[in-house]
Amino acid sequence: MPEPVTFPPAFLWGAATSAYQIEGAVREDGRTPSIWDTFSHTPGKTAGGDTGDVAVDHYHRYRDDVALMAELGLTAYRFSVSWSRVQPTGRGPAVQRGLDFYRKLVDELLSHGIKPAITLYHWDLPQELEDAGGWPERETAYRFAEYAQIVGEALGDRVEQWITLNEPWCSAFLGYGSGVHAPGRTDPAAALRAAHHLNLAHGLGTQALRAVTPARNSVAVSLNSSVVRTLTQDPADLDAALRIDNLANGVFHGPMLKGAYPERLFADTASVTDWSYVRDGDLETIHQPLDALGLNYYTPSLVSAAASAPDGPRADGHGASAHSPWPAADDVAFHQTPGDRTEMGWTIDPTGLHELIMRYSRMVPGLALYVTENGAAYDDKPGPDGRVHDPERIAYLHGHLSAVRQAIADGADVRGYYLWSLMDNFEWAYGYEKRFGAVYVDYATQKRTPKSSAHWYGQAARTGTLPE
Ligand code: NOJ
Repeated sequence: MPEPVTFPPAFLWGAATSAYQIEGAVREDGRTPSIWDTFSHTPGKTAGGDTGDVAVDHYHRYRDDVALMAELGLTAYRFSVSWSRVQPTGRGPAVQRGLDFYRKLVDELLSHGIKPAITLYHWDLPQELEDAGGWPERETAYRFAEYAQIVGEALGDRVEQWITLNEPWCSAFLGYGSGVHAPGRTDPAAALRAAHHLNLAHGLGTQALRAVTPARNSVAVSLNSSVVRTLTQDPADLDAALRIDNLANGVFHGPMLKGAYPERLFADTASVTDWSYVRDGDLETIHQPLDALGLNYYTPSLVSAAASAPDGPRADGHGASAHSPWPAADDVAFHQTPGDRTEMGWTIDPTGLHELIMRYSRMVPGLALYVTENGAAYDDKPGPDGRVHDPERIAYLHGHLSAVRQAIADGADVRGYYLWSLMDNFEWAYGYEKRFGAVYVDYATQKRTPKSSAHWYGQAARTGTLPE
């Protein structure tokens, strides 16, 4: 018999979602379009032309959804606030009805003993701010700080866990580089400018939250840091991996956690940008002391120098585009890592999660870590008995939670895990095709059916031990 995998008693067992992926109600109570409304309504941008107009109607069903979380046994819930619900033009006074929705949601969670964690920005920039230049413009970072202050003032008394940005890599490099995400621009220089201004937004937003929320609150950021592996130990491949590591990870964790961009980054990207938008004092602003770091992990990356690639360049798992999300790295090839894959085509490899946690645990000793996203898409369908059996997802969760437990045993201070996702939802450019939920959603009726993985995860949450 293998040893039971048991977690510390205070470990948080959460699930995560984001506003545009679940809320729907896009024209209600004063909300205005975000870049994802515009993008998803642009023909050809999402699978089947799917949009978040209705999504899983969480805006109207949040009470039932919270009751379901409680019934399953979850102890934490990570969700995001829709900026354009709270501050429709991205500037100026808040809309009370927008804030009221989140206050009611938080109170519902608290009354069920579920700890809320708020992500301020999960990719849905108010369209007006994009029209004014979007993330490549410095002004957007100041707008974000104002928005952080508004939400902090409204909810800081009852929400302890705050996350400034979700996966800024995707906002910058998929939004402005490869264009597979909103706003769909394909300009590598704009992508790097966006990265810097997202960093600045994180710093300014953290300062704003600190100023208006109680000191006991925790402020973090959620990074989708890549685990970059090389095809061989050849110097050319190692060099390719280092460059991708800087563009994937160091460009964010450098300034945020160490107060500096990676040494080589400026030289490596000199053909694309001169970085003159990095002003004196920016790095100090970005380098705020954080209470925790959120890590989102799905799959590792495998790279080599394109010249030494045995079967030529391959897609890197970030969607099909004629434009690379990686500025100044056309000479790097991405490969499929060996092993079983999920419906996204992403290789299942829990060792990557362990590696990632240990890397950040060593980088910032003493920093609390959370896995703020991890999960898998499968082609789930209800069986003849009406139940949804997803043994592959259970195996995925078991493997990755065991890796988290191993990292704790190895000294990392991991305080919680948020499964992506609570329920099936709008998977961005893939629309509703890809189901990441522990809870199945029938999109015609909005009926929720917990999959077997939801029951499995609930049992883990209630007992602190992974069911075999
Ligand atoms: C990361 C993103 O934060 C989330 O929005 C997305 O649905 C999942 N990954 C799965 O792709």
